[in-house]
Amino acid sequence: MTTPLYCAEPARHHTAQQLAERFALPLITRRPSDGYWLELGPERLELVTTGKQGAVYAEFVAGAAKHRREQGGGRGQPVAKAIGLKGADTLPRVVDATAGLGRDAFVLATLGCAVTLVERSPVAAALVADALDRAAGHPDTMDIAARMTLVHADAIRWLSTLAEADRPDVVFVDPMFPDTGKSAAVKKDMTAFQAVVGDDLDSAALLEAAIAAAKTRVVVKRPRLGAPIEGVKPSGEQIGKSTRFDIYSIKALRGGAA
Ligand SMILES: C[S@@+](CC[C@H](N)C(=O)[O-])C[C@H]1O[C@@H](n2cnc3c(N)ncnc32)[C@H](O)[C@@H]1O
Repeated sequence: MTTPLYCAEPARHHTAQQLAERFALPLITRRPSDGYWLELGPERLELVTTGKQGAVYAEFVAGAAKHRREQGGGRGQPVAKAIGLKGADTLPRVVDATAGLGRDAFVLATLGCAVTLVERSPVAAALVADALDRAAGHPDTMDIAARMTLVHADAIRWLSTLAEADRPDVVFVDPMFPDTGKSAAVKKDMTAFQAVVGDDLDSAALLEAAIAAAKTRVVVKRPRLGAPIEGVKPSGEQIGKSTRFDIYSIKALRGGAA
């Protein structure tokens, strides 16, 4: 079902029109009385509903993003090690093939990587576009936002059409597994996001496309005890508190050293 966009702030009608066009969202003139919808207010774009579920939005300036920016643990944190940052001379170019609300991509861009965020859900892509806009206008985050590029596409297809010169060093993959809700204790405020975006049942095809496109490695984010994506076996892993990063080294997969 298509999620509509409602503009609650008349002064921002032009922005709402641009979002509606870019992400093919139906722009509606009345706030719905049920279901889920995107609402553009004076501050930001949110995914909302009439029920008790909290609003969902992407955020790179304040809150958890600010905390992560300031206390994130730098190159020593598991995600940084997983993408190969520790001790690296040059920063890898990363494609985040499952951008979601852009939190992982933001961590990688904060560490200095140029990150292309690919997202197929128009709702998630619109939320990230709005957050990127705000981050680009804030002095604390404008440099980080400048390293982040959003692409609204299905990554399986998008990765397979990349020109040789555009192939990234690393492809990062964090699909919404049917089991994620149980094992990763998805926060209540993400209920709306999960309801609208749904499970990603084609992760094996995405992993294959990622392996074909990446120059050095593919990193898959999983709950610490979750099963790896079916198909190709990981060549290594980085384990965090609640998260595991499965590493698919391209060299190891081609029969060389890991
Ligand atoms: C669990 S969320 C990712 C959360 C993200 N890592 C973050 O930090 O916010 C999974 C997202 O990947 C997107 N996705 C899954 N498969 C995709 C594909 N083949 N191409 C593009 N986006 C995809 C889904 O629409 C969903 O928004």
